[in-house]
Amino acid sequence: MIRPVPVAVFASGSGTNLQSLLDHETPDGLYHVVVVVSDREGAGALGRAEAAGRLTRVIEVGGRPPEEVASEILALLDSLDVRAIFLAGYLRLVPSAVVSAYRRRILNIHPALLPAFGGKGMFGERVHEAVLASDAEESGATVHYVDEEYDTGAIVGQWPVRVLPGDDARALAARVLSVEHLLYPAVADHVCRAWAEGRVPDPFALSPVEPGSDMKRKAPWPK
Ligand code: GRF
Repeated sequence: MIRPVPVAVFASGSGTNLQSLLDHETPDGLYHVVVVVSDREGAGALGRAEAAGRLTRVIEVGGRPPEEVASEILALLDSLDVRAIFLAGYLRLVPSAVVSAYRRRILNIHPALLPAFGGKGMFGERVHEAVLASDAEESGATVHYVDEEYDTGAIVGQWPVRVLPGDDARALAARVLSVEHLLYPAVADHVCRAWAEGRVPDPFALSPVEPGSDMKRKAPWPK
């Protein structure tokens, strides 16, 4: 029997991706969210965590040296035996001491097909505005490892979403978000299974899909 990987989720916002990770969890699943960390008092993600009976912690970042923030994060994660971190709308750079301690054990989800449309300042509607301004035919969601920069770590899995005629940033964001909610739990399972088996995770591949119907993909895990 595989022991679920104890995970911390870091989130700054409303936490719908956190919710998808929590909803996907089962007692005999591959990961267990033991704590939700936010840099913002009152973040919606904290309420979702509390409703799910999970430990929450606010770790302030603004105006503090990164080393001090890193020590607080590492002490917390160590005390809970956390083995991986999933960023879910966390708007801060993860301190380098934390990246080093959890190298290839930190995932992030980004609402575009990296390496395009990422980097510092590329979050929220700005990402989708940039996609629309570029006339790209496709956007999507990306799960990647976190390194010392914004959105530059190795890609683990992606899910494309077509840009439709008449899309504005809001409409595109909503379609990408609904795909994020399927992709993140699936990739989380995928990497946690590999870790539990002592393997380095392969890139995550989506299940086959009918051509031209990005929203008709089946959830890529058995329910
Ligand atoms: C998502 O679009 C995610 O890709 C990005 O931040 C947003 C968080 O949304 N990193 P939510 O708080 O999970 O609803």
